[in-house]
Amino acid sequence: MAEVVIVDSKEAAGEVSADLIEALVRRTPDAVLGLATGSTPLTTWSALAARALDLSAVRGFALDEYVGLPAGHPESYRSVITREVVEPLGLTPSLVQVPAESGPVETAGADYERAIVAAGGVDLQILGIGSTGHIGFNEPGSSFASLTRVKTLTQQTRLDNARFFDSTELVPTHCVTQGLGTIQRAGHLVLIAFGEAKAAALAGAVEGPVTASLPGSAIQLHSTVTVIVDEAAASEL
Ligand code: GLP
Repeated sequence: MAEVVIVDSKEAAGEVSADLIEALVRRTPDAVLGLATGSTPLTTWSALAARALDLSAVRGFALDEYVGLPAGHPESYRSVITREVVEPLGLTPSLVQVPAESGPVETAGADYERAIVAAGGVDLQILGIGSTGHIGFNEPGSSFASLTRVKTLTQQTRLDNARFFDSTELVPTHCVTQGLGTIQRAGHLVLIAFGEAKAAALAGAVEGPVTASLPGSAIQLHSTVTVIVDEAAASEL
């Protein structure tokens, strides 16, 4: 059963999630964080950055990456993670990995799984949720046992993410994402959601039937889950 924390602002969500990360890093300075991109965790990163905390030994694994963007593209998740997480938080760049950045896309999934296992697994995974109910880029229909692999993005997700590109056509069609099975292995899942557009997906994830039609519902199979939401995202709970 997830612990659900309803907050009155994105900033408050940032503080609550930063508290969880700070407690972990104070216990384990080289903790392994699962990093999500997207607008949702931005207040988590800014709250953490404002704390006098040495995060230089922290290791990180991004949830997902687009396939097919040129190296250095500003909207690749490597670029986003560098800009929004690594630099403001003072993480050590070489300790933060993104899928499919070294080596062929065909073996990217297995390579990434090996790297996560070699690091001892993810201690705390930050998650957003897509309007389709996706976590990472595990779109509806994804197997709960799935590991990191190449996936096709739904048209809805491409439309949702078109705001970061000059047009919808320029949004990649494929990605490499940690699987639902990969995410389940993290020690603690922290799912954050804001706004009415997420309310249905959030309610399905937290208290709907556990179903591959709503990948976020996989969090109900995990024993340690914190859900941090504003009132709008919580409105269908
Ligand atoms: C993106 C990412 C997810 C993210 C989600 C929500 O496509 N792959 O990891 O959680 O969609 O994004 P946002 O936080 O911007 O709403």
